Amino acid sequence: MTSGDASAGRAIAPEKRLTDYSSCGGCASKLAAGELSRVLGGLPLPIDSRVLVDYRTHDDAGVYKIDEQTAIVQTVDFFTPIVDDPFRYGQIAAANALSDVYAMGGKPITALAVAAFPSKDIDPRVIESVFAGGLSMLREAGVALLGGHTVRDTEIKFGYAVTGTVHPDRYWSNAGARVGDVLLLTKPIGTGIVTTAIKFGRAPQASADAAIVSMSTLNRAAAEALGTVEGAVGGCTDVTGFSLMGHASEMAAASRVTLRLRLEAIPFFPGVVDLVPGNTTGGGATNRQHFSKGVELTASALTAADPSAENLISLLYDPQTSGGLLVSIDPGLVDPARRALAARGVQAAVVGVVEARGPALVTVG
Ligand code: CO
Ligand code: CO
Repeated sequence: MTSGDASAGRAIAPEKRLTDYSSCGGCASKLAAGELSRVLGGLPLPIDSRVLVDYRTHDDAGVYKIDEQTAIVQTVDFFTPIVDDPFRYGQIAAANALSDVYAMGGKPITALAVAAFPSKDIDPRVIESVFAGGLSMLREAGVALLGGHTVRDTEIKFGYAVTGTVHPDRYWSNAGARVGDVLLLTKPIGTGIVTTAIKFGRAPQASADAAIVSMSTLNRAAAEALGTVEGAVGGCTDVTGFSLMGHASEMAAASRVTLRLRLEAIPFFPGVVDLVPGNTTGGGATNRQHFSKGVELTASALTAADPSAENLISLLYDPQTSGGLLVSIDPGLVDPARRALAARGVQAAVVGVVEARGPALVTVG
């Protein structure tokens, strides 16, 4: 299920480009992984038996039990402009915010907008178009917009706090990966590199279009398809700001396993490998700094002495915005799971397997 081609958004040409209002785009703008742990590490531990999942396990969203049948799934995500088309920016922000609920196996039901806009020097129609783009995505997801909060800021920011529901015994977590499971990835990698190239006018149309369509595609179809195959999903997460390596590492750590990925199976956006030089983000560098000690790169293409190895490594640590689901599937149920995904138009790549915990959290061979 896609949201049409990349030029479908209502384009309004402001005097200033939307991405000029952001110092770094999309999920690349989030606080570095290490920084966040340091900031939150000193907080007192919450004690409430109804909290099934909270921030301590680095999962995608919190889960809170209401009664024996129902738990709520809550998450919030907002970021600076990642594309210049305001309608598309709104769509991507919404798809990205909803994604964490889908990654928990939940069904999003309500959303609150979280927004920051400059008080002057911006066409009000641009702001309207951002909200309209977001709303179009919420409608596609069947999610009700209940309200929101907007503040003045020199830097534009937009996104949503989202609430969903899930059965308290049947949510997916990044801690559920089982030894022997097969790993699927439902969207290609490289949105950080491509959107940086777009910002500087260096992205080929094919790369830009593929990334923009992907970022504004909900993870709903993928999550619903996987939900139809009883018992198939072990662990699940969405690949966002901490990169494929970061989110794979967090799943491995939470599940006490090692994820073994095959480099040649990892899907990248068309042309993105060649775009790496000059378009890397600060987020990619901090991801690499934070996660590389748990990652073992053995593929010959990654250990070669030429610059192409460096490009591939940068992509593995590239912060993603509205990325796909990384999901571990019972090996006996991979075929029905892939059929269910294909039937809903989701192209899932088989990227690796889950192994007993070895010296590394993630191995890319
Ligand atoms: Co997430
Ligand atoms: Co998130």
